[in-house]
Amino acid sequence: MKDIFVLGIETSCDETAVSIVKNGTEIVSNVVSSQIESHKRFGGVVPEIASRHHVEQVTFVLQEALDQAEMTMEDVDCIAVTEGPGLVGALLIGVNAAKALAFAHNKPLVGVHHIAGHIYANRLIHEMTFPLLSLVVSGGHTELVLMKGHGEFEVIGETRDDAAGEAYDKVARTLGLPYPGGPHIDRLAHEGEPVIDLPRAWLEEGSYDFSFSGLKSSVINTLHNAKQKGNEIKPEDLAASFQASVIDVLVTKAKKAVEEYGVGQLLLAGGVAANKGLRETLESMFDSHACELIIPPLSLCTDNAAMIAAAGTILFEQGKRGGLDMNANPGLDL
Ligand code: KG4
Ligand code: ZN
Repeated sequence: MKDIFVLGIETSCDETAVSIVKNGTEIVSNVVSSQIESHKRFGGVVPEIASRHHVEQVTFVLQEALDQAEMTMEDVDCIAVTEGPGLVGALLIGVNAAKALAFAHNKPLVGVHHIAGHIYANRLIHEMTFPLLSLVVSGGHTELVLMKGHGEFEVIGETRDDAAGEAYDKVARTLGLPYPGGPHIDRLAHEGEPVIDLPRAWLEEGSYDFSFSGLKSSVINTLHNAKQKGNEIKPEDLAASFQASVIDVLVTKAKKAVEEYGVGQLLLAGGVAANKGLRETLESMFDSHACELIIPPLSLCTDNAAMIAAAGTILFEQGKRGGLDMNANPGLDL
């Protein structure tokens, strides 16, 4: 059978990324240009700055991805692009780049959901067998997704307020740590002890939904009260306690869902999947379990285009096609 080469483009937030993936499973090239330095001094992503960076970077990143693969556009079978969700101005740059390439080189085009991409990052390291569950934890999403086949996504639980990554970033800001705060809290948490009592939002019995805003407020209040009373709180202990609460809820709900749905695989996905504490806890919990745990390497957890190309390959194989009227869709459903 002929090999399929899909070129992926991702510009939904603050990474401009292009990648070429072979047969949906093998990375041929993977280029990511991060804008984090430009957003850091604002303490978060500034949408207008993000769009401008994408415009400046996208053609260079595309050329670099083709050069690294030693390919030209003629060797590419399909172009896959993140259609949503994300920042509309940022998404538009990728979508328009993809449409221009598809038109100029007469190639098929597919639009990919960003979260489908995060989940399919796992297929770049391991075969996916169904039914499976994916725990998606990113800056914008916290979801438990049940998959009974390729391209079939059923969200069985999601956050009702802040996403896990968002809570990490807000708590980090409160502790005076730079953006994005997740990795800093993770590092700090390993230097402290989870001795501060913080809440865990289990929600109603049987619910797989999440809520992190109460926990975030609790961290802020704990710091505030300690300051007022002149008590000293070790930031590393607060980070460790916050991280323990997040991980406890994520892992307990994931484990329960794995048992209830009888899945053979649990896939971790999204930027917070880079979290050392979460990875270690899941590994120790699923070690003796009938369910296989798959965790992508750090470079495939945070935003990249290889995951978009991997998810796009499935759509291409299923005959799905996007037209030249494709638009960025910041509220796209999975
Ligand atoms: O998936 P991603 O790159 O972008 C979105 O689609 O949102 O996720 C970014 C998020 C940020 O909130 C960042 O703080 C968080 O992932 N993150 C982490 C870690 N590394 C990145 N959170 C906790 N621990 C980490 N080690
Ligand atoms: Zn993402």
